Amino acid sequence: MSSLSTYLHEITNFSATNREEVEQFRLRFLSKKGILAELFAAMKSIPAEEKKQYGAQVNELKQAAEAKLASFQEMLEAAADQAAATDIDLTLPAEPLTLGARHPISLIRERILQIFSRIGFTVADGPEIEDDWHNFTALNFPENHPARDMQDTFFIEQRGGSDSIALRTHTSSVQVRVMESTKPPIRMLMPGRVYRNEAISARAHCFFHQVEGLYIDEGVSFADMKQTLLYFSREMFGADTEIRLRPSYFPFTEPSAEMDITCELCKGKGCNVCKYTGWLEIMGCGMVDPNVLQNCGIDPERYSGFAFGMGIERIAMLKYDVKDLRLFSENDLRFLRQFSAEN
Ligand code: PHE
Repeated sequence: MSSLSTYLHEITNFSATNREEVEQFRLRFLSKKGILAELFAAMKSIPAEEKKQYGAQVNELKQAAEAKLASFQEMLEAAADQAAATDIDLTLPAEPLTLGARHPISLIRERILQIFSRIGFTVADGPEIEDDWHNFTALNFPENHPARDMQDTFFIEQRGGSDSIALRTHTSSVQVRVMESTKPPIRMLMPGRVYRNEAISARAHCFFHQVEGLYIDEGVSFADMKQTLLYFSREMFGADTEIRLRPSYFPFTEPSAEMDITCELCKGKGCNVCKYTGWLEIMGCGMVDPNVLQNCGIDPERYSGFAFGMGIERIAMLKYDVKDLRLFSENDLRFLRQFSAEN
């Protein structure tokens, strides 16, 4: 019988790389008929004075064998996990990748911003919850003036007149913020969501998106505005687009106008989209009222400027031939997936 230390040596140096070798190890040392069982059985023939030491050594051997077996088993498990992880059937067909699509409102907004950025306009942002001053008073809406009814406002806090807090009804509120904090020349665009308390229909919603623009410098004229808007219209709707300006009213501009473009669909001949007029209204505009400049700390004797504002939904409806404005906010993927920057 080999001495105990020889067994210890064998256990320590035993190497196993697969299940069979591990089983061989177990059979040799730890099975019912294995070496350790044999050594324990031999206990009874050991002289009494050596029993204690012998027992301790055999126990030590048993622990070493068990620890070795445990480490072999761990090794086998890790190898099995790895095999499972790389067990991929490369012949299976690939799962289809569904790509997201940009929202049509984002696409049109980006296009508008890009067209104006080419002539030096940058973008300004402002809060959707606005105070009376920035949404109305600074923009020359006198208190209790019926002009405030033009925009059906959602009030958050109605503290009586000029202290009220509301959801902004237009991004002209951002124009006020820009004028208050920036020295002319100013060439900026204000894109954003606006809110109006209107009955929801195919043509109106209680919220929509606007891009407004503001240009202030010395000697800015109505002709500058007209040329800028003609440039925009031709970039947006095609090189043969014509525009016309009709007199209108906004408290913050004087004179004010509505701008129409020639109907792209019928090329001015008249169709049901342009209601047989050949023209489509796309934005409001005008020369910034001197009172507004004054309210925002800009000297109206020295500076003048123009402003304009358009609804992104309206332009998207025209460009993409969408008949119902509600589709833009219903999150129907069948609708949303149809749009790309190219069309
Ligand atoms: N703020 C106006 C609106 O929301 C649009 C506009 C902007 C008109 C600038 C003129 C000048 O209806």
